[in-house]
Amino acid sequence: MESNNEVWKTEECSEKFLKNIRDCIPLALEQIDTVLRVIQGVAPKVGNFLDLGCGDGVLGDAILTKYPESRGVFLDISQPMLQNARKRLGSNKKLEFIIQDFGNSKWVGSVKSNAPFDVVVSGLAIHHQPDARKKGIYKEIYELLVPGGLFLNLEHVAPKSQWVRKAYEDLFIDSLYSFSKKNNTNKSRERIAEEFHDRTSKGVNILAPLETQCNWLEELGFIDVDCFMKIFELTLFGGIKPKRYQ
Ligand SMILES: C[S@@+](CC[C@H](N)C(=O)[O-])C[C@H]1O[C@@H](n2cnc3c(N)ncnc32)[C@H](O)[C@@H]1O
Repeated sequence: MESNNEVWKTEECSEKFLKNIRDCIPLALEQIDTVLRVIQGVAPKVGNFLDLGCGDGVLGDAILTKYPESRGVFLDISQPMLQNARKRLGSNKKLEFIIQDFGNSKWVGSVKSNAPFDVVVSGLAIHHQPDARKKGIYKEIYELLVPGGLFLNLEHVAPKSQWVRKAYEDLFIDSLYSFSKKNNTNKSRERIAEEFHDRTSKGVNILAPLETQCNWLEELGFIDVDCFMKIFELTLFGGIKPKRYQ
């Protein structure tokens, strides 16, 4: 399957995701907390980091809050998303916002002057790429990391069975419904389920199994590859570039 990133470039898709979906991602706060705990365990001094497919910069923002001295690079294909990231994070000499498509390896050149990175994070973005390209991106990340650096991917992965898919969808719809009730929108759960199934960004998902992706990381040389959190199709996985670069 080929990637189609055009939807993310639109104001409509960006706003819908940021206003209606991001805060409803099941266990979103716990995922961010786990990202920070893994970073603390592996790289307690974060000099610099890259947030790849940053959206409005939610992951990088969490890193900056915990490591205010760090320098962050925020890369995304979508101008509206990057505008939201700038709004959220403000302009600051230690931050760089880069519009680039990681669908081909040219993006690497745009961050080279900021590399190597202590940490690379990515949230719900790489799954829009075909599998060969996912693996290519993981290799590019490996090369951009400092020896001992950490890659963390908060990612949507392929379920192993149809019932896991259904459980994931039900969980997400329940979360959207309870958010909607809190905001007094009067939408029924059925209506919310319809909107969830019809969402534009769903069509550009190319999900790969967690185990396959962890195997790719190991093949590329990452060590301590692990899944740090998982609920149905939502995972946080990653690995470390060995200190002695081979
Ligand atoms: C589901 S959003 C997640 C945003 C953010 N990382 C988060 O966790 O909230 C996916 C993001 O990936 C970006 N994206 C998708 N394909 C991309 C590509 N080929 N190159 C760069 N960014 C891409 C989208 O523009 C969007 O901001």
